Amino acid sequence: MGKTIAIANQKGGVGKTTTAINLAASLAVLEFKILIVDADPQANSTSGLGFDVRNIKTSIYECLVDEVKPEDIILNSEIDGLDILPASIDLVGAEIEMLNLPDREYKLKRVLEMVKHNYDFVLVDCSPSLGLLTVNALTGADSVIIPVQCEYFALEGLGKLLNTIKIIQNRLNPDLEVEGFLLTMYDTRLRLSNQVVDEVRKHFQEMVFETIIQRNIKLSEAPSFGKPALLYDANSRGAVNYLNLAREILQKNEKTKIPEAEKIIQ
Ligand SMILES: Nc1ncnc2c1ncn2[C@@H]1O[C@H](COP(=O)(O)OP(=O)(O)OP(=O)(O)O)[C@@H](O)[C@H]1O
Ligand SMILES: [Mg+2]
Repeated sequence: MGKTIAIANQKGGVGKTTTAINLAASLAVLEFKILIVDADPQANSTSGLGFDVRNIKTSIYECLVDEVKPEDIILNSEIDGLDILPASIDLVGAEIEMLNLPDREYKLKRVLEMVKHNYDFVLVDCSPSLGLLTVNALTGADSVIIPVQCEYFALEGLGKLLNTIKIIQNRLNPDLEVEGFLLTMYDTRLRLSNQVVDEVRKHFQEMVFETIIQRNIKLSEAPSFGKPALLYDANSRGAVNYLNLAREILQKNEKTKIPEAEKIIQ
């Protein structure tokens, strides 16, 4: 049964989508079956995997409000074992339309229950808000990855996010765990980056992933080619950082499957 991990931070541009796409691609290359759920009306995960959002006629929106079956709209990506439940701009309206539905916080959970048995991991890319879509993601998830950008005010807003997580644990999803805080866009040349790393580690200690994602131009270029960094430039620092994150998460979750590719290398 797939473990569902939400990737959330209401702060914009901290690396949620980059993490969803590249962590998913890394896990898929390590031969795990992965579904990305694009829960953001910006649909950046969908376009970042090479799909033209204008051509997405049926999206997660219809699953949430019209009870369309997710298996009918899931798309296979260019990478074997990596699928996506796409978003479309319609999703903007979903938050308002869902407000009047019974069990409005559990809509995504019900959608995921229909497909998660087909996957080892389901990664939910959240929008930069703590609105109903993000509440649905956290209610339907087993854990949450919180990307934190290595820049000024890195900790700003984290209190509010952690408070939301606590409320969801108390009322909607008692099993929700923090998978880890992920430091992103680390710049070796900046002293500030190191200060942020120290500060975040001081606050959250072992909850911070050992793997740090460095600032890397290939990570920002790859989406415009509709590819994860692994397909765009497999040797790039960004691709390697996300492969390391995938390995750290597998280790943490004691996933013992030894992928063929790794067996050959050993
Ligand atoms: N490690 C990195 N190195 C270089 N550029 C990065 C890195 N991570 C993310 N970026 C770039 O920073 C921008 C924001 O990243 P991303 O879209 O992943 O953030 P987000 O949290 O999903 O944003 P939003 O809140 O709008 O959904 C993008 O242009 C992305 O390509
Ligand atoms: Mg995003």
